[in-house]
Amino acid sequence: MADLKAIVAVCDDWGIGCDGDMVIENRADMRHFVRMTRGGTVVMGRRTLESLPGGRPLKDRRNIVITRDAAFARAGVEAVHSIDELLAAVAGEREAWVIGGGEIYRQLLPYCTEAVITKTHAIRPADTFFPNLDEDPAWELVEESEEQVTQPGEGDEGLSYRFCTYRRRAADMSKGGAAEADLVHEIEGPAPQDVAANRASAGSAGAEGESDVSALGGAEPPRSAPEPHRARRPLKTVILYRSKHHGNTKLLVDAIAAAYPDEVDTIDVAALGRNEYPDLSEYRLIGAASGIYYGGFDKDLKRVLDHALSAGDKVFGLMTYGGADKWNGRDLAAVAQVNMATVLTMHGCRGWDTWGPYRLIGGVGKGHPDADDIQGAVDFFSRLRDEYGEILEDEWQKRRRRLEFEAAHPAGGLMANIKRSVDKITGRGMKG
Ligand SMILES: NC(=O)c1ccc[n+]([C@@H]2O[C@H](COP(=O)([O-])OP(=O)(O)OC[C@H]3O[C@@H](n4cnc5c(N)ncnc54)[C@H](OP(=O)(O)O)[C@@H]3O)[C@@H](O)[C@H]2O)c1
Ligand SMILES: Cc1cc2nc3c(=O)[nH]c(=O)nc-3n(C[C@H](O)[C@H](O)[C@H](O)COP(=O)(O)O)c2cc1C
Repeated sequence: MADLKAIVAVCDDWGIGCDGDMVIENRADMRHFVRMTRGGTVVMGRRTLESLPGGRPLKDRRNIVITRDAAFARAGVEAVHSIDELLAAVAGEREAWVIGGGEIYRQLLPYCTEAVITKTHAIRPADTFFPNLDEDPAWELVEESEEQVTQPGEGDEGLSYRFCTYRRRAADMSKGGAAEADLVHEIEGPAPQDVAANRASAGSAGAEGESDVSALGGAEPPRSAPEPHRARRPLKTVILYRSKHHGNTKLLVDAIAAAYPDEVDTIDVAALGRNEYPDLSEYRLIGAASGIYYGGFDKDLKRVLDHALSAGDKVFGLMTYGGADKWNGRDLAAVAQVNMATVLTMHGCRGWDTWGPYRLIGGVGKGHPDADDIQGAVDFFSRLRDEYGEILEDEWQKRRRRLEFEAAHPAGGLMANIKRSVDKITGRGMKG
């Protein structure tokens, strides 16, 4: 669910544009804009796109342009044709920046939780305005920089300006949001809550339907008080495991898979051929499960992970061990790190161990993992998916879109060549 934020430069009368252009030139402000938005998603109206140099999209950002023109197409730009379509397009993002112009700010402000505003102390002829947030009780100024002055060579010299952050008030959220959304309704059609209700009644049933509603803001359009992350959708997960001593670890893995039959796949690495490596690119979460052997994870499991993990993969560790505190997950973290994947968390419990001298005394930890140990592993996984599922899904979607975009737009130039070489050397990108 995207956190929408507006970013804009206004004058004292909240004027922002005239004849298709900005009204103030300030390079320091442009650098501020780039700092805030680079690497993220920007959303703009078609006329704002035309106002950019050469009508080209902003580099290093996902550019989404709203237009009613069904035939509109521009390299590096994703076109959407309504506010509803835009909200769906950014639903998988953590954050998206609304960068103008007047029409788009007005329609999307009801969905924004934050507005980053450069306020220049001046008035210029303008035909396009941003809503005056100082007069809107739904918004409050939460941060303001020191006053700065545009320097020689930096644009309109000698103007004073401040960088300000406004946030939608939690208490006034539904009131202010609803009022603005009514305005959108008049201009645009159904208000966000109506869209949500329509979707639900149109039969987008079950978990998917709920998630769509929340992506659109549900009954409360803006979302300044986010709910705790609860994975409503299935979280596509795979657990790679090796359980060679007594099948202790497999008990945990099987219990998790049984609790989530529609979302958890399991792969016994012992069943893979010597040079067979699974494609993990569809999985939002990857488990690595093993007994602890000689102080670490199983070496075949590590070898498979080393081939199969890709940059950005999110991994959790699961283990059983004989000694009370002999286990550790350092080697799993190392395998993840060299592949630019991240180990999110680990869980372990005791497992019956008859290795070496323990055999003489009938083993240690007999009966483990017991029912409580097994339930503990299921609870561990449930917490992980419930609390981080939405985030992991968002991350995965974002990564997939970036990779698709890069595949569709093989960039030229020196930097792209350097990046490709680095990717080649490090093995970055999804394997499969
Ligand atoms: N000061 C700042 O920070 C700042 C930032 C950005 C822009 N600006 C200024 O703002 C001005 C441009 O703003 P603007 O209000 O004229 O234009 P705009 O908001 O950039 O774009 C308007 C266009 O967006 C499309 N559109 C709007 N609502 C839509 C909807 N519900 N569904 C589908 N498409 C929709 C339409 O495109 P089609 O005509 O293609 O259908 C419409 O013509 C310029 O002067 C620019 O320099 C200032
Ligand atoms: C060869 C071998 C080495 C082991 N080394 C360790 C160890 O270093 N630390 C530890 O806590 N347990 C160690 N154990 C015990 C296992 O980690 C424990 O029994 C585990 O539950 C086995 O899981 P599995 O049945 O899934 O293979 C070792 C067991 C074997 C067979």
